Amino acid sequence: MDEIEVNPGEEVGQKPKKGHQEERESGDLVVGLDIGTTKICCVVGEVFEDAVDIIGVGTAPSVGLKKGVVVNIESTVQSIRKAVRQAEESAGCDLSSVYVGIAGNHIKGFNSPGIIAINGREIKENDVEDVIVAARTVKISENQQIIHVLPQEYMVDDHTEIQNPLGMTGVRLVTNVHIVTADMAAVHNLYTCCNKAGLEVLDMVLESIASAHATLRPDEMELGVALLDIGGGTTDLAVFCDGTIRHTCEIGLGGHNLTNDLSVGLRTPLQDAERLKEDYGCAISSLIKPNLVVDVPTVGDREPRKVTQKVLVDILQARMVEILEMVNQDLINCGLKNKINGGVVITGGTALLANLVDLAEQIFDLPVRIGYPTQIGGKTNEVHTPRCTTGVGLVMYGRQHQVDKRYSDSSMVGRMKEWFRKIM
Ligand SMILES: Nc1ncnc2c1ncn2[C@@H]1O[C@H](COP(=O)(O)OP(=O)(O)OP(=O)(O)O)[C@@H](O)[C@H]1O
Ligand SMILES: [Mg+2]
Repeated sequence: MDEIEVNPGEEVGQKPKKGHQEERESGDLVVGLDIGTTKICCVVGEVFEDAVDIIGVGTAPSVGLKKGVVVNIESTVQSIRKAVRQAEESAGCDLSSVYVGIAGNHIKGFNSPGIIAINGREIKENDVEDVIVAARTVKISENQQIIHVLPQEYMVDDHTEIQNPLGMTGVRLVTNVHIVTADMAAVHNLYTCCNKAGLEVLDMVLESIASAHATLRPDEMELGVALLDIGGGTTDLAVFCDGTIRHTCEIGLGGHNLTNDLSVGLRTPLQDAERLKEDYGCAISSLIKPNLVVDVPTVGDREPRKVTQKVLVDILQARMVEILEMVNQDLINCGLKNKINGGVVITGGTALLANLVDLAEQIFDLPVRIGYPTQIGGKTNEVHTPRCTTGVGLVMYGRQHQVDKRYSDSSMVGRMKEWFRKIM
């Protein structure tokens, strides 16, 4: 996976504490920092050639973000510090550089073609580089900046679906790339928060792409799969077909909207609505027995009210249907709905809503599963939740990035080769 624009740092520079170095001699440390709307999650991975061990995790409530975007720098910095300190204690080392996730509906994703003339000679590394540059030379709005340029495939004359055109001969070389852009101010604010918290940002990664690294299997990406990360403030979609990314989309709705609807609908404080959602929530109200009653705290000193669980679930279902139908419509609009034969993988905290899989299968008419972080060792219990998928995915992404760097001496072409070698 390739990223070009955003201040990439030079090296992963964590400082192991005395007494812990021995255990980590064989692996490098890679740190993922998921700055979410509801929580900050810092995941420390010890990465090896073929494995990732989670050696430390820290989480802290997030209070400075709205819909994935920083709205209060100081509060966000405090939350980051807390999560990082906890992760440092858990891992037994000091952390200094991180891979950071970015989300929010300021993010735009689109496909762009590039074409260059080869004139019948052999395709060299600089040709591949040039065709990528041609593909990314697109007009984007002034306040946006590119955060990812992800090669999808190449064509040499009439030969399509080429993964690596190096050494081939032809008249022209064509590529398609998926470009992801983000609002400059949002990117800048994330950098500022991390730097103020004493962290160097090695790279900024679209959260759905990070989550895909943690939870999707190569065969799913080959067959076609939609990764849906439903967090607190945003719903992030990334679609993969034929082993490569095809589409990304950000929707500014998430678990907070469900909680807020409950709070307004049942006239109960937000924190009570949150608890009721987690304890009694469900995505399908017809599964709830009509006579089940729950105590709903009221605002002020009044006695709790009795409300049937069905009423509570009706409210949640309405919002969940809205979110999933928006995603379904987006899949239809981008022309990929009938290409995702591997179905839909839902992750993020809202994936924990009971019976969400059943509701999503009804709406998408596709197989659906919940995505947990996979293919990791170490402290797996601490991250075995859809809430930690992005944090773990950032570690996986960082590891891939390091492998690419080694493989390619930092050349873009080499990283693309690695991208195709590893499917993603
Ligand atoms: N058991 C549960 N049932 C329903 N919702 C849940 C449950 N547990 C957590 N959630 C919801 O998950 C959401 C938080 O998910 P997550 O931690 O993935 O969000 P985030 O990464 O902080 O936010 P974002 O990615 O949108 O910026 C909250 O809205 C929370 O209410
Ligand atoms: Mg998230």
